[in-house]
Amino acid sequence: MVVRASGSARAWLSRPVQDLSGSIEIPGDKSISHRALLLGAVTRRPVTVTGFLDSADCRATRRALERLGVRIEACAADGALLVSGPGAGEFRSPVEPLDLGNSGTGIRLLTGLLAGQGVAATLTGDASLRARPMERVAGPLREMGALIATDDGCPPVVLTGTASLRPIDYVLPVASAQVKSAILLAALGVAGTTVVRQPAVTRDHTERMLEALGARIRFDDAHVVLDGPCELDGGAIHVPGDFSSAAFFVVAGLLRSEQGLLIRNVGVNPTRTGLLEILRAMGGKIEIRERRQSGAEPVADLFVRQSTLRGIDVPAELVPLAIDEFPVLFVAAAAACGVTRVRGAAELRVKESDRIGAMARALGAVGVVVNEVTDGMDIVGGAIHGGPVDSAGDHRIAMAMAIAGVVARQPIHVNDTTNVGTSFPGFRGLVCAIGCDLAEAEER
Ligand code: S3P
Repeated sequence: MVVRASGSARAWLSRPVQDLSGSIEIPGDKSISHRALLLGAVTRRPVTVTGFLDSADCRATRRALERLGVRIEACAADGALLVSGPGAGEFRSPVEPLDLGNSGTGIRLLTGLLAGQGVAATLTGDASLRARPMERVAGPLREMGALIATDDGCPPVVLTGTASLRPIDYVLPVASAQVKSAILLAALGVAGTTVVRQPAVTRDHTERMLEALGARIRFDDAHVVLDGPCELDGGAIHVPGDFSSAAFFVVAGLLRSEQGLLIRNVGVNPTRTGLLEILRAMGGKIEIRERRQSGAEPVADLFVRQSTLRGIDVPAELVPLAIDEFPVLFVAAAAACGVTRVRGAAELRVKESDRIGAMARALGAVGVVVNEVTDGMDIVGGAIHGGPVDSAGDHRIAMAMAIAGVVARQPIHVNDTTNVGTSFPGFRGLVCAIGCDLAEAEER
């Protein structure tokens, strides 16, 4: 048992329920919220951000930017933020390390941005973040001329500050939107053409936002071309609802909503929605309604109904498009008939936790038969029993196992739920609003 100094409850008890229904609105997208602050820090005029996700990860990025001299203040009753950068060459070099908490997006994108600004800084984070690979970002930035060191490949990352970088033509060794974005942010002030080539499609929010702010950028599934230096304009950025947060409700509805569940304000950027294709191939009844454009991003409402799911071999090309949704997809697979096979997903091992290992253990603990392989898992669908599970300190594993409790035979006790606040502080309230029985509990 973990002893907490505060003694506060940091676990959940998720009990099975018979029917879920309702209409809910999904809070802001984490990836886009980070980017809105980071880009607002380097625009010519201030940027107004609406729909910002006020989660622990995004707050860590906000605090780090404020320490660098960026002004971020509430400017309207709805929580809209006004972001004003210090101006080119005016970033402060902080004496103390910048703590990005649990946030991989925060540390990787900020490293790129600061390398481009020539700012000396040390970037670090919590124990999970300090175990995550940073050479994938440091390597290309060094090729651009940045002076940058990592601690055996991981944070702390130490930027020593350089006067000017040079453009590169870089082939990403792994499909990573964070690495792609770090290079693009570093390249903003660089004269010449920077090219990033990706082995598979990754989320393109940075490219869309840069285009909307006036950068000379071209992009498709295979590559991004940025002509620098870029003077970015200011203006308004609207953050749509987070598809990765909606994913928990999509699966909950497929498992237990006879009347259907309406999930409103969901970002449906095609580089993020691989889960919908996978679940549809498994037999999921999912309707995309009211498709609309919100600034640079497509948004829709999703309507999902209880469905008989069957196991499939997940197509390899959909893996990067569903990369953050695997914990909850594994839960859907556990409740399906037949075997679901996932391969080509080794990146899951270097997320906030080793999501293959942690989900194999959590599902195994509630009676699901799984076969863990290096780059994926086989999940034998059938009954989910119940019992205590460990989130491995990973927000998405905690939320996925809470959803598993909805269809389990016995309650599931999810230990270590604190980090849910990194991406979805209101998760428990929202799942209870659709009829889930998810109570706070003591760790067990
Ligand atoms: C993110 C990109 C993804 C994703 C992460 C957020 C981003 O990682 O898993 O949660 O905001 O760019 P990759 O960099 O591995 O694509």
